[in-house]
Amino acid sequence: MTISQDELKQAATILQSGRLVAFPTETVYGLGGNALSDDAVSRIYAAKERPQFNPLIVHVASVTMAGKYADLDKKAIQLAGVFWPGPLTLVLNRTKGCELSLLVSAGLDTVAIRIPAHPTARALLDMVKLPIAAPSANRSGRVSPTEAAHVKAELEGVVEMILDGGRCTVGLESTVVDMTEKTPVILRPGSITQEMIEDIIGEVDIATADSPIKSPGMLERHYAPAAQLRLNAKKVEPGEALLAFGKPLEGAILEENLSPAKNLQEAAANLFRMLRKLDETGIASIAVMPIPEKGLGVAINDRLQRAAK
Ligand code: TXA
Ligand code: MG
Repeated sequence: MTISQDELKQAATILQSGRLVAFPTETVYGLGGNALSDDAVSRIYAAKERPQFNPLIVHVASVTMAGKYADLDKKAIQLAGVFWPGPLTLVLNRTKGCELSLLVSAGLDTVAIRIPAHPTARALLDMVKLPIAAPSANRSGRVSPTEAAHVKAELEGVVEMILDGGRCTVGLESTVVDMTEKTPVILRPGSITQEMIEDIIGEVDIATADSPIKSPGMLERHYAPAAQLRLNAKKVEPGEALLAFGKPLEGAILEENLSPAKNLQEAAANLFRMLRKLDETGIASIAVMPIPEKGLGVAINDRLQRAAK
C-alpha cells in the first residue's frame, strides 16, 4: 500500500490546520493531531470519546526534535539510538518552556515520545514538521485498529482523512518505559521486551497492579495544583480565583474562562493551561463553576476531581 505525495501533502495540511488524520504506524493506526495545539489535542479526546484524559504519545521525526520537547538523559539516548525508529515509547520530563500542549501530558510534567518506523508515518512526520499526538485510532474501550478499514468503521466522520498503509506489522501497541524513575519502569509491555531493554541500559522494572506506579490508564499520578479547588461553585468566596464555564460568577479577584460559550471541547483544550495559570499566581483557592456531566464534560470532571484531592 503506497501513499502518494499528494495524499501526504493533503494530510500534512489538515494536521497543520489543527484537524485530525489517522495514519498507519508499525504497531497500530494512530489518530493524529498537532501536539502543540490544545485545540487539536482536545479534538482527539472528543473523537475517541474517552471518559478520561489519559496522556497521549507524541510522535516525532527525529531525536533532535524529541530533545526540543523532552529531556533525554544518557539511558534515554542509548535506548533511542537502538530502538528508534520503532515500537518503543519513552516517558521523559518535559523541557523547561516545552511548547507541547499540556493536555497531551494530561497536565503532568512528563511526556511520552516515540519515533515510529512505518514509512508512511515517517514521511508524514518529515513533511508536516510538527510533533503529532496520536493515540490508537479507536473509540475508547475498543481494540486498537491494525487496518485502515478498522479505523473507518470506528471513526468515519470524526477524522478528516485516513491514510491507508496496509496492515500494521507489529499489531500491538508500543512498549512504554518511564525513564523518569531512578530505575526505569515498563508501564506497558510490548514487542520490545524487558530483556531487550536491559541489554542496553541495565536493570528496569515492570509495573504491576500493586507497584507504586500503576499501569497506564490507571495512572495514579496526575496534575495536582497547590491551590485548593472548590468544584461546582455557585458563588465566589472572598479572596478566591474563578475558573469559569459560561457566564462567569461575580466577585473573583482573578479569573479564567474555560469556555464563555459553554463549548466542552474548548473547555477541554483550555483546562490544564488555565488551571496552571491560576495556580502559578500562588492563590489559595480556586472556585470552579459546574461542568455538565456529558460528552467531554465527563473527562473534564474526572480530571477536576483528581486535581481537587
Ligand atoms: O503503538 C503505540 O504506541 C500507538 C501508536 C499509534 O503509536 N499509540 C498508542 O497511544 O498506543 P495511546 O495514547 O493509546 O497510549 C499511550 C499510553 C497510555 O497507556 C498512557 O497511559 C501512556 O502511554 N502514557 C502516555 N503519556 C504518559 C506519561 N506522561 N506518563 C505515563 N504514561 C504515559
Ligand atoms: Mg489505545
